[in-house]
Amino acid sequence: MRVIIEENYESMSKRAASLISAQILLKPNSVLGLATGSTPLRMYKELINMYKVGAVDFSEIITFNLDEYVGLPMEEINSYKHYMYDNFFRHININSDNINIPDGMAPDIEKECSEYEAKIHARGGIDFQVLGIGNNGHIGFNEPDLKFKAATHLVELDEETISANSRFFNTIEDVPKQAVSMGIRAIMGAKKILLLASGKCKAEVVRKALYEGITPEVPASILQLHPDVTVIIDRDAAACIGAGNINMINI
Ligand code: PGA
Repeated sequence: MRVIIEENYESMSKRAASLISAQILLKPNSVLGLATGSTPLRMYKELINMYKVGAVDFSEIITFNLDEYVGLPMEEINSYKHYMYDNFFRHININSDNINIPDGMAPDIEKECSEYEAKIHARGGIDFQVLGIGNNGHIGFNEPDLKFKAATHLVELDEETISANSRFFNTIEDVPKQAVSMGIRAIMGAKKILLLASGKCKAEVVRKALYEGITPEVPASILQLHPDVTVIIDRDAAACIGAGNINMINI
């Protein structure tokens, strides 16, 4: 695991965007696993800017989003489908046939989960997975639990997640209570993983996930077992990493 500490959110995002563009340069038809949330927003902006100046070409990439709320249609501003088109896909030359986002409106969610999993498998798995981390240590919507959930699955969202995400909704009651999430198998099956975290509010969970024991109670801790993880965090998110771990840090 490489842990890179950047000065701030902006430089973290630039560095993340350059890693993704390097991936696409090396493999134009890369299968990218993509994340939503506040953290990758600036990274998507950087990628759009790179595309506008001809520095990256998305025409052959294939994308799989990590998760989606159950019961929010695309027109709903808080659906992740809406987020992805608004913040990224609409602005680049991606082929819309190559965009995959779990369908939280599917009449049969179990079937949607197994079909989503099969689609990832049919594409040969994910080449490069982007992850944020929840305040409770979740990756995708893999919430703290007694066991890691391998497959794409229906999630009952944690109180902490509902409360964290309520900032995007009018009231906390409007936050969906369920979501579909890619499971740990597809995430850990990615050839490369990029974990991003920014801000003081993530400092404690970053420390726990990266430097404490591997436990399903902190789902991101499983990343310690992956052979090719790059973590890019800003100084605030690195605030709880002790000097004893400094040998793992590239600045
Ligand atoms: P955030 O969410 O980027 O909005 O902090 C991260 C996550 O919940 O995975």
